[in-house]
Amino acid sequence: MEFVTSTDAPENVACDALVVGIYQDVGPVEGAAARVDKALGGLLASSLTEERFEGKLAKTAVLHTHGKIPARRVITVGLGPKGKATLDTLRKAAAGAVLRARDLHAGHIAYSAITLPPHPIELVTQSRVEGIVLGHYRFAKYKKPEGGEVTKVTLLAANHEQPKHVDEGRARGLVTADAAVFARDLVNEPPNQLFPERLAEVAHDVAKKGNLKFSVFDPDAMEALGMGAILSVGGGSANPPRLIAIEYAPARARKTVALVGKGVCFDSGGINIKTADLQWMKSDMAGGAAVIAAMRALPTLRPPVRVIGIVAAVENMLSGRAAKPGDIVRAMNGKTIEINNTDAEGRVILADALAYAVQQGPDEIVDLATLTGSAMVALGYQAAALMSNSPDLTDRLLRAAESAGERVWQLPLYEEFLEDMRSPIADLHNSGGRYGGAQKGAIFLREFVDGRPWAHLDIAPTAFLDRDEGTGPYLPKGATGFGVRTLLAYLSAMT
Ligand code: BES
Ligand code: MN
Ligand code: ZN
Repeated sequence: MEFVTSTDAPENVACDALVVGIYQDVGPVEGAAARVDKALGGLLASSLTEERFEGKLAKTAVLHTHGKIPARRVITVGLGPKGKATLDTLRKAAAGAVLRARDLHAGHIAYSAITLPPHPIELVTQSRVEGIVLGHYRFAKYKKPEGGEVTKVTLLAANHEQPKHVDEGRARGLVTADAAVFARDLVNEPPNQLFPERLAEVAHDVAKKGNLKFSVFDPDAMEALGMGAILSVGGGSANPPRLIAIEYAPARARKTVALVGKGVCFDSGGINIKTADLQWMKSDMAGGAAVIAAMRALPTLRPPVRVIGIVAAVENMLSGRAAKPGDIVRAMNGKTIEINNTDAEGRVILADALAYAVQQGPDEIVDLATLTGSAMVALGYQAAALMSNSPDLTDRLLRAAESAGERVWQLPLYEEFLEDMRSPIADLHNSGGRYGGAQKGAIFLREFVDGRPWAHLDIAPTAFLDRDEGTGPYLPKGATGFGVRTLLAYLSAMT
């Protein structure tokens, strides 16, 4: 998809479809819609009235212009109630419009300019571009998709001051959305294609293209480092595990952040085998995918902070070498873990990945993991759960998520949760009682961060939508790329 900026007036731009937005329940059309309506002799307003178009968010109406203006059609997209519009409103509306355009086989579409005070045009444009790219996304690698394809998008700038702001927002929007799309592709990729070694190759490729430092540890190297936890989970599969590390180190960095991702390329549950919905368990590497995708965007976004992206990549499988319930393993930081449920594998591999992160001396650590069904029970498909030992890091992550249009909700890490994670015969066991499962998983992880500021995002609720529930104009079924935009907003806000 090609993006260009233009200062054409909406009524003068030549394209297959011109997009104009209107708010819900405002009387006469305003802004770009009003200009286009005037050029069409009142046809737009009258046809919208006739169709009883209400302006509900991301709903669309189409009008053919029959040569009255250079645009072949006008797609009117609803922006919802005027007082309630946010940047995410623009993301959703932009997505609604691009989906309609695709259905209409409109290859070249133009978006008329819009403002949303007090947000700067850069952010307005970034949000719209994200909506367009993420809305248009399909996982098309194994099946030719139906319908048309939008190949060119013209972003209209309102006056001669605006183009450079539009260009800047467009650039940021493209980098961010491309990273999220990259994460989606990785998560949607079937598990016979994407196993730990392949994920490491993908990460290596990202590092090479971005001029980033790269290291990968195979089982022998992990053995040497004392990573008994990852080795235990990964041992059951014919596809051996990998620990992946990518480093972005700008010269002017004052702080170091470690991003740690759960990269379970397939989670069968292990000997405690799962019984339902196993076909979605290819998505259990969504945290790792988000970390790799974020690293991919950093060389372009250039935030002034050193970032180490660490992904523990394994398959949780059954075999004669698989971890057995009752096994006790030793993580890299020396702590012992009794495996009382092989399906609680995420926290086990993250134990080593977090301990490895600590060794790199980060100022703060953020991990992303599809860790628990419990988080989904608590939040549905609507928000990821955040648990942390640092109120300051929590604040910054919540703000980043808000600005990125990703929902994150904090859950409390009461000390009592740790009691249930202690084993009588090892430092910890990996599975406690059912209730408070997301928090118990998180407090287990906290045992491996050596007291450093750390936050855990349980993205099981939001990483993968296995049915229509939770989907939206720019959130299709399947992988969402959740976390990438939040991570990039969080890192971009660091000084
Ligand atoms: N990967 C799963 C969590 C999950 C479930 C993610 C469904 C997405 C959709 C994780 O490894 C797991 O199995 N967790 C167990 C932990 C329990 C055994 C303590 C769970 O949540 O049931
Ligand atoms: Mn599991
Ligand atoms: Zn899992």
